[in-house]
Amino acid sequence: MKINYKFLLIISVVAIGAMGLLAGSIDDREKERVDLNKSPEIAHEDRAKNEAWARYYPRQYGSWIKTKEGSELKDMLKDKPQLAILWAGYGFAKDYNAPRGHYYAVQDNRNTLRTGAPVDSKTGPMPTACWTCKSPDVPRMIEEDGELEFFTGKWAKYGTEIVNSIGCYNCHDPKTAELAMHVPHLNRALTAAGLPTFEESTHQEKRNLVCAQCHVEYYFKKTEWTDENGNKKVAKVVTLPWKYGLTAEGAEKYYDEVGHTDFTNKISKAPILKTQHPGYELYKSGIHGQKNVACADCHMPYTQEGSVKYSDHQLQNPLNTMDRSCMPCHRESEEKLKEIVHRKYERKDQLHELAMDNLAKAHLETAKAMEAGATDEELKSIRDDIRKGQWRWDYAVASHPSFFHAPEETLRLLAVANDYAMTARIKLVSVLAKHGVMDYSAPDFSTKENAQTLAGVPLEKLVAAKMEFKKTLEVEWIKQAKERGLLSEQTLKGSDPEASYFKK
Ligand code: HEC
Ligand code: HEC
Ligand code: HEC
Ligand code: HEC
Repeated sequence: MKINYKFLLIISVVAIGAMGLLAGSIDDREKERVDLNKSPEIAHEDRAKNEAWARYYPRQYGSWIKTKEGSELKDMLKDKPQLAILWAGYGFAKDYNAPRGHYYAVQDNRNTLRTGAPVDSKTGPMPTACWTCKSPDVPRMIEEDGELEFFTGKWAKYGTEIVNSIGCYNCHDPKTAELAMHVPHLNRALTAAGLPTFEESTHQEKRNLVCAQCHVEYYFKKTEWTDENGNKKVAKVVTLPWKYGLTAEGAEKYYDEVGHTDFTNKISKAPILKTQHPGYELYKSGIHGQKNVACADCHMPYTQEGSVKYSDHQLQNPLNTMDRSCMPCHRESEEKLKEIVHRKYERKDQLHELAMDNLAKAHLETAKAMEAGATDEELKSIRDDIRKGQWRWDYAVASHPSFFHAPEETLRLLAVANDYAMTARIKLVSVLAKHGVMDYSAPDFSTKENAQTLAGVPLEKLVAAKMEFKKTLEVEWIKQAKERGLLSEQTLKGSDPEASYFKK
């Protein structure tokens, strides 16, 4: 047999070339790995600044800064005016927007009418705890001041300190860049629920738990303590109600046990629990949570850049990145999958509207019964029904995407919520009749303006005070933070503050 040496030679050259390329790519990856390991620990005073990490992790920083692109501001009170009735007497009736990019967390927190218009570091209305899920400056301040001091005082106390938006130090160790969490309340809650702590959890679970530092239900637990100088103080400590499990009913049982109520509804005088955003808890009950698909799998998909693979840090709606977020596991077409998700939204929205309408009417009919002379005694079980119904409705929808993360649980909660609201309304018919009121129908709350008027929200006054705060104290906060080197110009570049009440 005659060997074709020329052919062999060509094959060899091609093979050597390919090996060279492969080696090059391994080299690149190795270099990247070594570079990562070489990265020094990021100093305490720089940790909260995302730019300080950019030098070592340019790709992660580059994608993180793109959370700026998630800038759309959606006024939920315009979209669902019933909310102002349900939250009458509470901050959320004043101003409430759908969540947007992490980049905006600090400025949205300063802009919302809920944080009010403090005039110095001691005026309210909100406690320091309101900063907790907004910034990597929060773990920095907990380290500097101690947890209890951090949770003591008014929100404005940390205006000059908490200036960088959600970033690297919220989720990473400043020395190794491994996943880490820096808020004590999460491990306390995991332990109370009988679950492994963050450090004991699997790597895949940590890809959820970094998000569970913030995307969870919580309340501010009043905690008395004495500082090192013997001063008696009261802290409002972020606490997750997980003792009886990660469910709406479990959290309700915990709140009832400790006698917690977030506010008394101004219209009906019902004692209300306000849900925060139990995103992690609900996700756990859904099929992806059950099958160990982590938040990061969908929201931070791997991205290939040349020979380097990294996690996309532009946390956003994964329907924008379906090729990387869904297609690694699903075989349907993107269009088909999108259609399925959209139908889930429509089903949820139908029950969502029903439950809200009935709850809003129950509040207004209770007010009418009070006006007609019904006593607290007569209204007790009605107000209890409203509390239970509103808690379940809020739990189902407060973390907006639960219709996708946990469709069955979301629909169950909305159906039960509607049942409680209807039960209250049936009882109200007879209470109203007993006091001579027949055929009462609640006033129109179909626009934000009408609903806020019924809820007694003095919008113009609130906006005027806020604009004054923005011209004075807020300017001072930013100036001081810049002078002290806590905030870099680069972070602020191109950021465009937005609020529902800004005149366009
Ligand atoms: C909300 C949490 C969160 C924030 C904020 C965040 N990361 Fe990450 N980061 C993650 C998760 C989750 C992973 C995936 C880790 C894994 O599976 O090992 C990751 C991975 C990484 C990795 C490992 C390589 C990779 O890409 O998978 C580096 C390095 C990194 N992040 C740096 C940063 C830097 C720098 C910032 C700030 C600009 C940042 N991260 C902000 C959660 C976060
Ligand atoms: C330090 C607290 C914190 C952590 C940690 C955190 N988030 Fe968020 N997240 C927020 C807040 C606050 C907002 C709303 C910001 C706003 O509207 O200004 C938000 C908004 C979002 C949005 C909406 C983005 C948009 O453009 O509409 C997504 C998606 C999201 N987070 C996913 C995640 C995932 C996934 C993780 C974990 C990998 C995570 N978050 C970790 C606090 C946090
Ligand atoms: C299987 C994929 C998947 C997993 C896992 C997942 N999400 Fe989502 N998430 C989505 C999709 C899809 C949407 C958008 C739904 C829609 O169209 O509104 C979304 C929306 C969101 C939003 C709202 C974004 C906005 O702009 O309104 C937040 C916040 C969020 N997810 C947080 C989380 C957190 C936290 C986890 C883990 C506890 C998680 N997600 C797990 C797919 C996922
Ligand atoms: C890591 C794998 C993985 C990723 C990534 C993933 N899924 Fe899934 N998904 C699953 C598994 C597993 C199931 C359960 C059904 C099964 O076992 O076949 C499922 C079920 C579903 C279902 C049907 C269940 C229900 O709730 O009705 C939908 C719809 C779905 N996924 C959409 C998505 C979308 C949209 C994305 C991207 C944003 C996504 N998935 C990302 C693994 C994944």
